[in-house]
Amino acid sequence: MLYEKEKQMHLHKLQTYDEMSAAAAQIFSKQITEKPDGVLGLATGTTPIGLYDRLAEMNDSGKLDFSKIRTVNLDEYCGLQPDHEQSYRFFMEKYLFSRVNIPKGNTNLPNGAAQDYDAECKRYDELIERLGGVDLQLLGIGNNGHIGFNEPADFFSGGTQRVKLTESTIQANARLFADASEVPDYALTMGIKTIMLARKIILLANGGKREIVERALYGPITSQVPASILQVHQNLEVVICEEN
Ligand code: GLP
Repeated sequence: MLYEKEKQMHLHKLQTYDEMSAAAAQIFSKQITEKPDGVLGLATGTTPIGLYDRLAEMNDSGKLDFSKIRTVNLDEYCGLQPDHEQSYRFFMEKYLFSRVNIPKGNTNLPNGAAQDYDAECKRYDELIERLGGVDLQLLGIGNNGHIGFNEPADFFSGGTQRVKLTESTIQANARLFADASEVPDYALTMGIKTIMLARKIILLANGGKREIVERALYGPITSQVPASILQVHQNLEVVICEEN
């Protein structure tokens, strides 16, 4: 069974974090070269930082051009202004957008500081549709199997929505805040359906996520492990490493 599943996805098993980041950068580089005005779905978290470093280097050395690329990020905390140091907009500016030649107007995240969250979710879904959908979606994975901020639930979500973060996610993400009490309770996230409509998906995970990655890729497909739905995606690249 393990073997059958592996035939449906492209599995890249690397030793180190650097090798994982390089393999992911190759996939992005190919995508950007083949479709210079394509739509990239981006993710935050510590896992993709090495990948973003490499993309910035490739841009710097003239190997990659971001001038026509459009981006949509997976998620954003509710209640944080874009210039808040823990906001995902701030993260993206710091690790990628400010380091490559992408016009700021081409970069998109849900607005966690919106007054009307329903309207903001609708705006984000319409935006993704207007862009023609996502060509390559990058995903990390939470310890409980969440992708974006789609937490374990009784059903797989559709479009962008406001979600309550689970205690385990708040605790996991607390390391980036001064204190767990400062982690917002809610976030806006692209839904599972939108993620699954991406023409290609790349799941990135280091050794610390080994157990949940195995459950997601080889266990039963269930909304209690949101990432397990990736098993049925037709164009999935899994890039993992042994190192934590
Ligand atoms: C957050 C993000 C996810 C990310 C996860 C794992 O919850 N919303 O998109 O995949 O963290 O982060 P890390 O890579 O730091 O383990």
